[in-house]
Amino acid sequence: MPLTMKQWQILPAGLDRFRQTQVAVPTPGPGEALVRVRAVALNYRDVAMVDGTIPPPASGPIVPGSDAAGEVVALGSGVTCLRIGEAVIDVDNIGWFDGPPPAHANSAPVLGRLAEFVVVPAAQLVRAPTTVSAISASTLPVAGLTAWFALVEEGRLRAGQTVVVQGTGGVSMFAVQLAAAHGARVIVTSTSDTKLERAIALGASAGVNRVANPEWEQVVLELTEGLGADHVLEMAGGDNLRRSLAAVKLGGRISLIGLLDDAELRAPMLEILFKRVTLAAIAVGHRRALQDLVQAVDQLRLEPVVDRVYAFDDAPLAFDHQRRGPFGKVVIDLSD
Ligand SMILES: NC(=O)c1ccc[n+]([C@@H]2O[C@H](COP(=O)([O-])OP(=O)(O)OC[C@H]3O[C@@H](n4cnc5c(N)ncnc54)[C@H](OP(=O)(O)O)[C@@H]3O)[C@@H](O)[C@H]2O)c1
Repeated sequence: MPLTMKQWQILPAGLDRFRQTQVAVPTPGPGEALVRVRAVALNYRDVAMVDGTIPPPASGPIVPGSDAAGEVVALGSGVTCLRIGEAVIDVDNIGWFDGPPPAHANSAPVLGRLAEFVVVPAAQLVRAPTTVSAISASTLPVAGLTAWFALVEEGRLRAGQTVVVQGTGGVSMFAVQLAAAHGARVIVTSTSDTKLERAIALGASAGVNRVANPEWEQVVLELTEGLGADHVLEMAGGDNLRRSLAAVKLGGRISLIGLLDDAELRAPMLEILFKRVTLAAIAVGHRRALQDLVQAVDQLRLEPVVDRVYAFDDAPLAFDHQRRGPFGKVVIDLSD
């Protein structure tokens, strides 16, 4: 085991404040595991934290990255649920194991994964899928679980239902793949016809270019014989919720997930009431649902959509790519 390791840090603001450092490999305490990180997947929020749109939790340098896959290399005392060498991913919501979130659950984003080794509470780790690489496994804890929780765990998606997915980023491409694998009809929106073609190749039934059709909800209504969709994943916030509301069917469900446009929501209350729409807030998901997703990935042979893999030393370029808007996921490879 090396004594020191490479780690990326972000100084208080901006991509130019990225700094690679050499620090001591941490030691796991009681109830903890030391994980050799093999891959870190980026999310919208990683960039938002660099840009300062989401305030970082600390004023000094932070170690970015919340989604990691790796293997257990050392265990602290009292850990019996893990083995050395086991491939793992970790849960984003610390302390939320199943059911409703407990009052003490920490909903602040996990940080600190963009390093060669990390110490993680053993209870936060879940066995990785056996059918995909660490690169693919690293995409599950946030993007994969968010889509799974909205559609399957809480949404109770059934074959034959219609799902509207907005955009082709990380959460959205998982939603396309999972909904299609469950036998749903998926309508996806995008700014790009090329991305729509790729989404259709991955299981979507129809695509709506939302530049050519800013009133994309009208196309959804045409495609659903005026009824609207059973599920809409709201990814943009702001006035987009009005469109999602128009696109959802009577008694349908809008999962509130993203704030790509606006962190406030605006929509007419009367329409929500008359349509008896469920507005469901999604904040990633709990540990048991991540275990269910891992099983589903293995069973369905689902291959997460990875737009590009970057070497560890190129992490700032990976953040740039994430900011431009990936098709699926951007992942940083630490396997060397
Ligand atoms: N609630 C939760 O648990 C949770 C979990 C994860 C992420 N999120 C949130 O969900 C959102 C997406 O996250 P992500 O990591 O999947 O992002 P991402 O991978 O960066 O997705 C970016 C893509 O979203 C699409 N997009 C951008 N603006 C849009 C708009 N106004 N309307 C529809 N689509 C738009 C674009 O796709 P096209 O180019 O194809 O249009 C863009 O490429 C973010 O706001 C993030 O904070 C929430």
